[in-house]
Amino acid sequence: MSIIISPSILSADFARLGDQLQQAEAAGADWVHIDVMDGAFVPNITMGPFIVETVRRSTSLPLDVHLMIEHPERHLEAFAKAGANWLTVHVEACPHLYATLQAIRALGCKAGVSLNPGTPAGSISAVVDVLDLVLVMSVNPGASGQRFIPSVVPKIRQVRSLLAEAASPAVIEIDGGITAQNLPEVYEAGCRAFVAASSVYKFPAGIAAGIQALRKAEPGR
Ligand code: DX5
Ligand code: ZN
Repeated sequence: MSIIISPSILSADFARLGDQLQQAEAAGADWVHIDVMDGAFVPNITMGPFIVETVRRSTSLPLDVHLMIEHPERHLEAFAKAGANWLTVHVEACPHLYATLQAIRALGCKAGVSLNPGTPAGSISAVVDVLDLVLVMSVNPGASGQRFIPSVVPKIRQVRSLLAEAASPAVIEIDGGITAQNLPEVYEAGCRAFVAASSVYKFPAGIAAGIQALRKAEPGR
């Protein structure tokens, strides 16, 4: 299986969002990553179900919705109705994590859980049976354009062993500061899905070239 590239629209030009999405899709993007921030779990405020619905009408790619919000359980249905395919909540924001992941699946979406850089891999050990995706943050959530934190790489390996022990087919996704330079070591650690905002939408040679550079960086290609 080749890698999944999930460009984050956080760095897209919102005045031309439809066009930018189409460029990414034509260049071979696999998913569209949508960063939802509430000004509480993280300082920034970004997008809600309304934008997810707008993106849903502009592309046929799966929508990978990353909820950096408090009380995500209150909003799951709205995001599912708006067209989300993958719904990822933060372990740090969910006292009832198992129930929240079950609720995501009950809405017909794939259930993901995200770990901040300071959150250990073991925090997901009790929910492995209701997980479709583990999103490892390699920056502090809140903004695009930050530098990759290399100390998350051993945690990816720990997540991989945890999933393997449970024979879980869940995908490991990485988010934050991903470039063609650091993609190989993250891949070797076990990641197969790669979020990228700056390396796609702010890539100097354009969106298509950004996606191609990431694609070419996959080891063994
Ligand atoms: C950060 C978001 C990321 C962000 C990545 O809080 O979750 O998805 O858009 O941006 P880059 O790829 O520029 O680090
Ligand atoms: Zn994200």
